[in-house]
Amino acid sequence: MPIIAPSFLSANFLNLQADCDMVNQSLADWFHLDVMDGRFVPNITFGPMIIEFIRKASTKVCDVHLMIEEPEKFAEQFKNAGADILTVHIEACTHLHRNIQQIKSLGMKAGVALNPHTPVTELSDIIQDIDLVCLMSVNPGFGGQKFIPQTLDRIKQLRRMTVEKGLNVHIEIDGGVTLDNAASIVAAGADVLVAGNTVFKSANPAETIRQLKLI
Ligand code: DX5
Ligand code: ZN
Repeated sequence: MPIIAPSFLSANFLNLQADCDMVNQSLADWFHLDVMDGRFVPNITFGPMIIEFIRKASTKVCDVHLMIEEPEKFAEQFKNAGADILTVHIEACTHLHRNIQQIKSLGMKAGVALNPHTPVTELSDIIQDIDLVCLMSVNPGFGGQKFIPQTLDRIKQLRRMTVEKGLNVHIEIDGGVTLDNAASIVAAGADVLVAGNTVFKSANPAETIRQLKLI
């Protein structure tokens, strides 16, 4: 069964407690929290302060997706806010190896995210050092976009790489995940499904999470 990570980008920020309670009580596994800086992506969301509040209301793994430049400047703040997994974008890191070592030395799991145009082969010399790859299946910046179909081939290619190297790395798919495409995403080799709109804009979010989990 896949790990389900509802993205709070689509949550109700006037009543985060209610959405945290819903996810805590659901079959979801992780809280996916999207940090945007208005530079790396054309949108601004929230930072460590909001994550610290969400962390206090959460009983699950806190999966923080940084869509920011110079993530090394903030890694410690996100650790202090309660991040369990910290994911940085390969396109935002000149010294990716150093960034990953920093995240791990702070006691977090390290993830690397790839934009839809970045070849998965760019990970071939670093994959053994990371815990998670976040493959963007939309261009990062906004919830509610349409899944880019080439992602399925990218998942297969990446899964082949981890199997060949004998590595246990999560493949997380982020963007446009729905009840209709989730099964094919998992069949291609992904094991973590991020879902924002599909969960939070549905009539019964906990039931939608259950359906994604049992896909
Ligand atoms: C997009 C974010 C996603 C977003 C996914 O830049 O990284 O996590 O919330 O939203 P949906 O599932 O609505 O495409
Ligand atoms: Zn995300």
